[in-house]
Amino acid sequence: MNFDEKFSVAPMMDWTDKHCRYFHRLISRHSTLYTEMISADAIIYGPREKLLNFNKEELPCILQLGGNDPYKLANASKYGQDYGYSKINLNIGCPSNRVQNGAFGACLMKSPKLVADCIKAIKDKCHIPVTIKCRIGVDDMDEIKGLDEFVDEVSQTGVNEFIIHARKAILNGLSPKQNREVPPLNYDRVGSLKKRRSDLKIILNGGISSIDEGKELMKTYSLDGFMLGREAYKNPYVLSSVDKDIFEKKANLKTRYQIAMQMAKYIDSFMKQDEPRVHSVTRHMLGLYNGLSGAREWRRVLSEKAKYAKDGDILRIATDTIENVIQRKNVA
Ligand SMILES: Cc1cc2nc3c(=O)[nH]c(=O)nc-3n(C[C@H](O)[C@H](O)[C@H](O)COP(=O)(O)O)c2cc1C
Repeated sequence: MNFDEKFSVAPMMDWTDKHCRYFHRLISRHSTLYTEMISADAIIYGPREKLLNFNKEELPCILQLGGNDPYKLANASKYGQDYGYSKINLNIGCPSNRVQNGAFGACLMKSPKLVADCIKAIKDKCHIPVTIKCRIGVDDMDEIKGLDEFVDEVSQTGVNEFIIHARKAILNGLSPKQNREVPPLNYDRVGSLKKRRSDLKIILNGGISSIDEGKELMKTYSLDGFMLGREAYKNPYVLSSVDKDIFEKKANLKTRYQIAMQMAKYIDSFMKQDEPRVHSVTRHMLGLYNGLSGAREWRRVLSEKAKYAKDGDILRIATDTIENVIQRKNVA
């Protein structure tokens, strides 16, 4: 499957599961979507079907893996390929303790040779492309020399796409949340990497607060794309401008109402299948009406009542209520 990664929604643990991705896909047809990070061990030894199963409507969708064992990563990638994921992305940016104890995630920036070995093993076993998501450095690593050496070594494997969260990860002393906020952003560093390695696809991530800002940064630094994380999750309707403004495709713009109705149908259909919890879908939709009248009530109904709901009707009721509030406000 050929697709352009000019815009993507970041992998986010506990957030970008298959229900969330289905919802995001209804808002934007062309964005690239990512799974949460899944460890190679979990795929090999754990509940594989539950972890990897997804709706084909989500494509293009990239499976993000965590691990440091070439053999296991290759096997987990092969499973991902067989399930139909579009690419494999290796997480070299996560700073959590759990991940550090397993010696993968961001600490692997210090071991480019091992990362290269992992990629070679994946490439030997799979034909779908492999990409890297990393930081501009970790701890006291030199942001200039360290990142250049990492990218140069890893790209020798033939990997040509790097998504770079433009801040360092500080592995001792900062929580994962602080590591997304405290180390300073350095977009210039990502721009200078692209200048030096114009042969590579370089995608910028970190702290981008709107589609317009991302578009501007792409232009300023001649980058190949940008990735939005928290803003896309908390304010998902920002994705509605992506198809037209980033991909320059004729947009089939859906209203919030249309999206909510399609999600209600989705809930009805999956309630008959695997996972009978309406809340596991609606929890990703709380931000759909952000900034509009009635948004607080919408969030309240969905977070409190969806837990006990048996089908998509709770979403229909909440949506009708907020649409009425908006209409009344427009008439007044
Ligand atoms: C709740 C949450 C979970 C995250 N989980 C992952 C993950 O599984 N893999 C990953 O590479 N990054 C993860 N991240 C980091 C994001 O992918 C992204 O790099 C970071 O949030 C910066 O982008 P933003 O400023 O646009 O949010 C997570 C971020 C959040 C907020």
